[in-house]
Amino acid sequence: MTDQEKLAIDGGSPVVTDPIPSGVSGPSIVGDEEIKAVTDVLRSQQLFRYSEGSQAAQLEQEAAEFLGTEYTLMVNSGTSAIICALTGVGVGPGDEVIVPGYTYIATAAAVIATGAVPVIAEVDESLGLDPADVEAKITQYTKAVVPVHMRGVPVRLDEIVAVARKHNLKVVEDCCQCVGGEYKGKRVGTYGDAAAWSLNYYKTISSGEGGLVYTNDRDVYERACFTADPGAPMWTGENPLDDRRNDPFISQTYRPSEVLAAMCRVQLSKIEDILAHQRSLKNAFLGELDEARAYQFQHLDDPDGDTGVSASVIVQNKELAIGFEHALNAEGVTVGTIYNDGFPDRHIYSYWDSILEKRSPHPSGYPWKDPNYHGNVEYSKDMLPQTLDILGRSLRFDFNMNMTEEHARQMARALNKVDAALGG
Ligand SMILES: Cc1ncc(COP(=O)(O)O)c(C=O)c1O
Repeated sequence: MTDQEKLAIDGGSPVVTDPIPSGVSGPSIVGDEEIKAVTDVLRSQQLFRYSEGSQAAQLEQEAAEFLGTEYTLMVNSGTSAIICALTGVGVGPGDEVIVPGYTYIATAAAVIATGAVPVIAEVDESLGLDPADVEAKITQYTKAVVPVHMRGVPVRLDEIVAVARKHNLKVVEDCCQCVGGEYKGKRVGTYGDAAAWSLNYYKTISSGEGGLVYTNDRDVYERACFTADPGAPMWTGENPLDDRRNDPFISQTYRPSEVLAAMCRVQLSKIEDILAHQRSLKNAFLGELDEARAYQFQHLDDPDGDTGVSASVIVQNKELAIGFEHALNAEGVTVGTIYNDGFPDRHIYSYWDSILEKRSPHPSGYPWKDPNYHGNVEYSKDMLPQTLDILGRSLRFDFNMNMTEEHARQMARALNKVDAALGG
């Protein structure tokens, strides 16, 4: 065995000698354009979204065109966008909403914020909702399902939407981690009744914080607007609710900032470049992998649709996954198993103690003890064995805007080497 073949963890030469750059998506390419857009708004002293020439209104129009939906609403976060979308489609106290056991905790938190109860379902090798488990978890109280496209990869949308339609459920797509992703020729976010984007620091495009709600349904849109701002119908100026057809109700305030909207408009103008670069990195990685391999890939319904920020491989067992993790780290590739008993990952349901223990912000115990709720959802840390098994065997390789294709190829070479030594 040559020094190159010997694993670095055993004293061989590491594949990666110069560190692979860290970074994210949109924020890593913030430049003079964003700085100018933000300072222009500040100089204008016009910082309210219901005003002539509103940045938020312009972003909404541009984002709607980008996605191909009729209505878009900017709010102050992705979580708020999910809350507005859920309330928009009619979710509320007494309802159950199915969410995956692998998502940022905010997806389930948004359900609770509407007064509904989250029902947490298994993910499969797509690392997204398992359509069979979604169907198994439907009760007479189920109102909606929230497929979450994690780490840039669309879920099995066709099957999930089919299950939802069969049972007359609403679908709210959580696209927070898959902004700009596509599925079978259309953008994710256009398959359900409503969808949410996050614009936070880690997302495809970003203004630090922010979110967008998408829908083609005028009623859903109006309800989302009422949810986002109790004064929404009353603002003068460019108010899209002037010709509303629903009676307003009172909810929260999730109004967005004009400064962030201005920044986000610039980021949106860069989204195709961001997606192209990320996808070129992922393709370089995939193209460099040896044909002979012992691991399998995450299931992709549409291999061309993801945003290119990650590639996940699934090995035979958890111990091997941990062995791969340590060996790859020694080769100079920062990679981890998605679930590993130790690290409290806020993206895995078994760490959502506040939800698993049904901790309510109020002595009434809502939403679980809400008098409108007649179901009996139960949670436990090990209730989704399939999810924990698959995530425990999955290793995720991340790509970012500061990397070159050569960096991605080095990551692949490290995986080839480790798989040849350990994969068997
Ligand atoms: C899958 C998913 N859903 C929802 C959210 C919530 O978005 P935000 O942080 O903008 O509220 C996030 C953010 O990290 C997310 O990753």
